[in-house]
Amino acid sequence: MAQATARAHSNIALIKYWGKRDSSLNLPAVGSISVTLDALHTTTSVHFSSEWPTDRVELNQAPADEKTTQRVSRFLDIIRQNAHIDERALVSSANNFPTAAGLASSASAFAALSLAASTAAGLSASPAQLSEWARRGSGSAARSIFGGFVEMHKGQRADGRDAIAEPLAAADFWDVRIVIAITSEQAKQTGSTGGMEQSKNSSVYYPAWVDTAEEDLSAMRNALLQKDFTRVGELSEYSCLKMHALALSGQPGLLYWNGVTMDVMHAVRNLRRQGIEAYFTIDAGPQVKVLCLPEHQNTVEEALQQIPGVLRLITTRPGTGAHLLGEKA
Ligand code: PMV
Repeated sequence: MAQATARAHSNIALIKYWGKRDSSLNLPAVGSISVTLDALHTTTSVHFSSEWPTDRVELNQAPADEKTTQRVSRFLDIIRQNAHIDERALVSSANNFPTAAGLASSASAFAALSLAASTAAGLSASPAQLSEWARRGSGSAARSIFGGFVEMHKGQRADGRDAIAEPLAAADFWDVRIVIAITSEQAKQTGSTGGMEQSKNSSVYYPAWVDTAEEDLSAMRNALLQKDFTRVGELSEYSCLKMHALALSGQPGLLYWNGVTMDVMHAVRNLRRQGIEAYFTIDAGPQVKVLCLPEHQNTVEEALQQIPGVLRLITTRPGTGAHLLGEKA
């Protein structure tokens, strides 16, 4: 196969990944649990040809910058090495949502690239293998290979073969809603890799974060499988605030939130005081993702829409894993 197109959806971690045990193989220091998001996806085509002298990358129909092209090229080297090929590739990738605004575009991007590139290179990889490759591009991408509710293992091995994600429950296991409040369209200042290194190297809280991760994972796994919404929500908010407390406690502390992010967090807690079960979670950026049940979706949307500075909302539900859209010899 020389050409393939794949699609993968973004995901949001309910138990957060923050910190690497090995940065060259991108091995996480802690496991994580996520839900794959139906409404946000990346579609990527990869075409290998011996006629091209270099890899070329197009993002949303425009040539990608040098840094992105190099990151994609390094990823393609892993696939080339496994497939024993030397051809360069044309990679065209498009998101159906704004890139780099803290909506985990690297998760869907590297999951889609992993499937499209390996298929185009003639490899027929298992989901576990795809997850391992996707992790090399971005830690959270390993989770986006799977749909529904997903657990990423930190793994024990030095070669990273066991640092892969696995599905906990399919997308149709539980109809929850995630209302995403966009509070800024600007690219973030400190990316997740730099942020994680900073926390690891300078926060006194980092050892405690790593030591207590397993408890959080096991509590969330149980709550999810029992469909205990209150517990899932509480644990999500706890893991989010714990991760941000860690980021805040580095030197210098990392402030991923803006004022509107804070206003949304307070509004979510206000909703809870009124009996509406809603819980927030936030990644390394200013957008707030609010978890609720279908019967409360409208109320949550109305409350968030009213907050000055909330630019728009995207509401979604659990989505499917990475899949091929087409392939050609
Ligand atoms: O996949 P990365 O390297 O962009 O890191 C993701 C970090 C968080 O989004 C903050 C947490 C997570 O588990 O997705």
